[in-house]
Amino acid sequence: VKKVLVIGIGAGDPDYVTMQAIKALNDVDVFFVIDKGEAKNDLARLRREICERYITAGTYRFVVVDDPVRDRAGAAYRENVEAWRQQRVALCGKLINDELKHDECGAFLVWGDPSLYDGTILVLQQILAEGSAAFDYAVIPGISSVQALAARHRVPLNRIGEAIQITTGRRLAAEGLPDGVDNVVVMLDAGGAALKAAQGDDPDIYWGAYLGTDEEVLVAGKLRECIDEIERIRQTKRAEQGWIMDTYLLRRPRKD
Ligand SMILES: C[S@@+](CC[C@H](N)C(=O)[O-])C[C@H]1O[C@@H](n2cnc3c(N)ncnc32)[C@H](O)[C@@H]1O
Repeated sequence: VKKVLVIGIGAGDPDYVTMQAIKALNDVDVFFVIDKGEAKNDLARLRREICERYITAGTYRFVVVDDPVRDRAGAAYRENVEAWRQQRVALCGKLINDELKHDECGAFLVWGDPSLYDGTILVLQQILAEGSAAFDYAVIPGISSVQALAARHRVPLNRIGEAIQITTGRRLAAEGLPDGVDNVVVMLDAGGAALKAAQGDDPDIYWGAYLGTDEEVLVAGKLRECIDEIERIRQTKRAEQGWIMDTYLLRRPRKD
């Protein structure tokens, strides 16, 4: 039977790669790389570096394909994501059928942890549901950007007994901080509008960009006092690097 591994490689630092992931990497015959374009070349390089550094047994090959183009302009965000996911399902099914021999092991290397804002597992489940390819699959967890953020700021995600919510910048911008949740982790905040929407609740912020890499930047304090600095860093870094990835924890002040 063909086997497909979804391997979390951690969110930036090659030292985040776990022992389990290293063992899995060494079992892989074919790495499928979905190329997301020029701006993310740093990420493609990191994937290759991880393979070169940790694979000591056997031979492996890379199969690189272009990511289907996603329509980000339209208002129908959910429909666009769905259409794009369908194209990915077709593409990945074809990769597994055409590029993986019987009894070979293929792998998708997933940034951070595969359980967090990553479509790979759902794509594989969809291929199996459609019956367009046959394979077994397994998931290897990785250190997510959320864990890296908390570790670098040396804070827990919650105070005693409190709930934590993980959400997107898009949702936070539209809905503000959710009621009854004291700790909110925000990912995928491309625009920066979310920070402005959260200011009214006067939370503390623990912000991190390029976590685990040489470009890492951390800012912590009262959101109202830090927001301008964060915006400035975002703009400068995006201009310098061509891309930015940031994650932050917002924490409501204690009521007592
Ligand atoms: C598509 S999601 C993937 C998350 C990933 N699966 C994880 O476990 O971290 C991409 C988002 O993760 C966050 N992210 C990933 N890596 C990061 C890093 N090294 N530093 C800061 N944020 C990061 C950013 O919010 C980014 O917009």
